[in-house]
Amino acid sequence: PHEQFAWLRRNAPVYWHPDPGGPGFWAVTRHADVTHVSRHPELFSSHRRSSLLYERSGELLERDRLIMLNQDPPRHTATRAVVNRGFTPRAIGRLEDRIRKICHDLLDRVSGEADFVADIAAPLPLHVICELLGAPAEDRESIFAWSNHLIGFEDPDLARKGAEPLRNLYEYGVRLAAARRERPGEDLVTRLVTGGEALSEAELGMFVVLLAVAGNETTRNAASGGMLAFFAHPAEWRRLLADRSLLRTLPDEIVRWVSPVIAFRRTATAATEIGGQRIAENDKVILYYTAANRDEDAFDRPGVFDIGRDPNPHVGFGGGGPHFCLGAHLARLELKVLFETLAERMPGIEQAGEPRWLRSNFISGLKRLPIRT
Ligand code: HEM
Repeated sequence: PHEQFAWLRRNAPVYWHPDPGGPGFWAVTRHADVTHVSRHPELFSSHRRSSLLYERSGELLERDRLIMLNQDPPRHTATRAVVNRGFTPRAIGRLEDRIRKICHDLLDRVSGEADFVADIAAPLPLHVICELLGAPAEDRESIFAWSNHLIGFEDPDLARKGAEPLRNLYEYGVRLAAARRERPGEDLVTRLVTGGEALSEAELGMFVVLLAVAGNETTRNAASGGMLAFFAHPAEWRRLLADRSLLRTLPDEIVRWVSPVIAFRRTATAATEIGGQRIAENDKVILYYTAANRDEDAFDRPGVFDIGRDPNPHVGFGGGGPHFCLGAHLARLELKVLFETLAERMPGIEQAGEPRWLRSNFISGLKRLPIRT
C-alpha cells in the first residue's frame, strides 16, 4: 500500500473515508499528525469507543474497557503504573539469556528446508510470553491457537466458526491468576496479583488476553518481515554479518520497515483540528503507522532499508504518548537476539519460495516464509 499512502500524505494527509457500512473515519498518514494525535489523549480518546479498528457493537463493552489499550488517563495511568514494573529495561534485560537459549533451541531443530514463520518467528515470542507470564509449557499450544484466532478473524485460513478465543484466553488468565495467588512464583502474573495496588481478577484476565495477542502477533511478524527484508536487501545482510554493532539499531529499523501494526484508532472528544483539517466530536480517527513510517518529512530516504538508521523516530510502537507499546524493550531484545543468533549460526540462510501474507487491515503479517539454511 506504500504508493497509496504516499499519495495520501502528499494530497490528502487527513482524508475522510466514507464507510457505507458504518460511520466513516479520518485516515491520518503523516508522521507529525500521527504523533500529535497519539500525544493528546484528552482530545483523541481510546476509551470513548475503542482503539481497535472494528467494534463488535456500537458501544464499547465494559469488558473491553478493562484492557488498558481502551482506557484514557487517569484510569489508564493507574493500570499502566502497575504493569510497567514488569517491563522496565532492567526487568526485561534479565530475560536476555533465556531468549538466547530459546533461539538456539529453535535453530537446533531447523536444517535444510523450513518455514521461517512456523519454525522460528512464531514460536519465539510465544515461548517468551509464556515464560514472562509463568504459563506452563503444556498450555502454550492453546494460548497460541487462541491468540491466532483472535487476530485472524478476517483471514479465511484462520477464522473459525464457533471458536471463542477471547473467552478462552480470558478464562485462562483468570485461572492463571488464581493459581499464582495460591502458589506465587517469580513471574509477571505473580507480581500483578500480589502487592498493594494489585489488579482485579477481571483486569488480570483481560491483561493476559492483551499480552498474548500484543506480544505474539506483532513480534512474530516483525521477525518474519525482517527476514524477508534481508532477503530483498542481501547487501544489508552482508553488512550485519560483517559488523554486529548494527544489532543496536537493527530492531527499530525492522519495526519501521515492517510496521507489524498497521493502525490504531482514536475518537475525537471535541471539535478540533489535525494538520489544519477540522474534525468533529465523535469522529473516528485512524492512525496509519505504516504510512507515517515512510514519511519523507520525518526520515531521510524512507524507502531504503538501512539497518544502521540512527536516529530512527519511527512510530511502529505507537506515536508516543501514554499508550506507547508496553513491550517495546522486550520486542527489541527478541529481535536483537534472534538476528544475532541467525547471523552466527545460519549466515547462508536464503529464501526458498514465495511468502504467504495474512489477510488483515490491522496486522501486516506473513503466514509462511519458506527458507533454506
Ligand atoms: C501497544 C506495536 C510488541 C504489549 C502497542 C501499540 C503499538 C504496538 C503500535 C499501540 C501504541 C499506541 O496506541 O500509541 C508493537 C510492535 C511490537 C510489539 C510493532 C513488536 C515488534 C509487544 C510485546 C508486548 C506488547 C512483545 C508484550 C509483551 C503491548 C501492550 C500495549 C501495546 C500491553 C498497550 C499499551 C497501553 O495501552 O498502554 N504495541 N508491539 N507489545 N503493546 Fe506492543
